[in-house]
Amino acid sequence: MSASTTPNAPGPPPLAEIRGLSVSFGRGEFLAVKGVDLELRHGEVVGLVGESGSGKSLTALSLMGLLPHGARQETGSILFRGRDLSSLSPGARRELCGRHMGMVFQEPLTALNPVLTIGDQVSEIFRLREGLPREQARRRTLDLLRQVGLPNPAQAAQSYPHRFSGGMRQRVVIAMALALDPELVIADEPTTALDPTIAAQIVWLLREMAKKRQAGVLFITHSLGILAGLAHRVLVMYAGLLVEQTLADFSEPLHPYTRGLLGALPPNPSGGRPARLSPIPGHPPSPSERFPGCPFQPRCPESVDACLRGLPPLAEARPGRLVRCLRFP
Ligand SMILES: Nc1ncnc2c1ncn2[C@@H]1O[C@H](COP(=O)(O)OP(=O)(O)OP(=O)(O)O)[C@@H](O)[C@H]1O
Ligand SMILES: [Mg+2]
Repeated sequence: MSASTTPNAPGPPPLAEIRGLSVSFGRGEFLAVKGVDLELRHGEVVGLVGESGSGKSLTALSLMGLLPHGARQETGSILFRGRDLSSLSPGARRELCGRHMGMVFQEPLTALNPVLTIGDQVSEIFRLREGLPREQARRRTLDLLRQVGLPNPAQAAQSYPHRFSGGMRQRVVIAMALALDPELVIADEPTTALDPTIAAQIVWLLREMAKKRQAGVLFITHSLGILAGLAHRVLVMYAGLLVEQTLADFSEPLHPYTRGLLGALPPNPSGGRPARLSPIPGHPPSPSERFPGCPFQPRCPESVDACLRGLPPLAEARPGRLVRCLRFP
């Protein structure tokens, strides 16, 4: 695939750029990510959606250099501020990613140290990163814990992670990511465990970060309603492939898959926007299945014979809009 995800975009090089990324498992026979291109500019929030197993997390983990054991980058390059990360030693890459990228995972427990209080964990970041004295780091910590919606920051700071609910822990992890003040934030289903009010606060914080600090945010989610107020554009993945770059409010989905995700949805009572991905009859293929044509064809209500013959390219269907379907452009 050669199409860029922001065609004809002017200006400086992207903050982060993935070109032609493929990720395999086993001995290279299972491709879980297939030729993904993705750009993220300073101050830009990009949403990444798709059914479970479509390759969203592996794409994000590749960007951070954190692919799980057994996974291998087969093709592609990853650039950060125009620099190819594969040209760096593992140590230099870790240092660069640790300093400039922050990741918020769906499962917050793994990111927290069970033997340190919440306050110590957050203020350690301020002390190490900015060399702040203890009292100043503590004040910044309490301020940040308040910002992420912890009701009693002073008490929370003295608690250990196991005393917290999943939602509270997630807010702490988000506070830690914000304390790092990264240029690139990858948030992988960060609000799934949170109630809608807190989720909205977190989204607001991330959007402020993109705006004020000119950070780039890659936001992976199943909650499409959240993206409408957050993302500048949305990428849709299916079976390891990018199939569409669409508008953040999903007002004009083009690919039958995107339309299917949105189609059967009851409107969100608060905003009339789709709330979550809706089930489409059938299942996505497993990475071991091979297709001569479009992998969505077996589930596509609009398929024709030609869909079986070859994989369509990701092509520009409207200005700035990309779609992988032979009905377009
Ligand atoms: N450690 C692993 N070993 C083998 N296969 C894996 C492993 N991790 C992921 N996969 C496979 O790679 C594919 C993509 O996984 P990925 O985690 O990127 O999906 P995802 O889009 O993030 O899904 P979800 O929405 O469920 O988080 C899936 O088919 C999954 O089965
Ligand atoms: Mg995932």
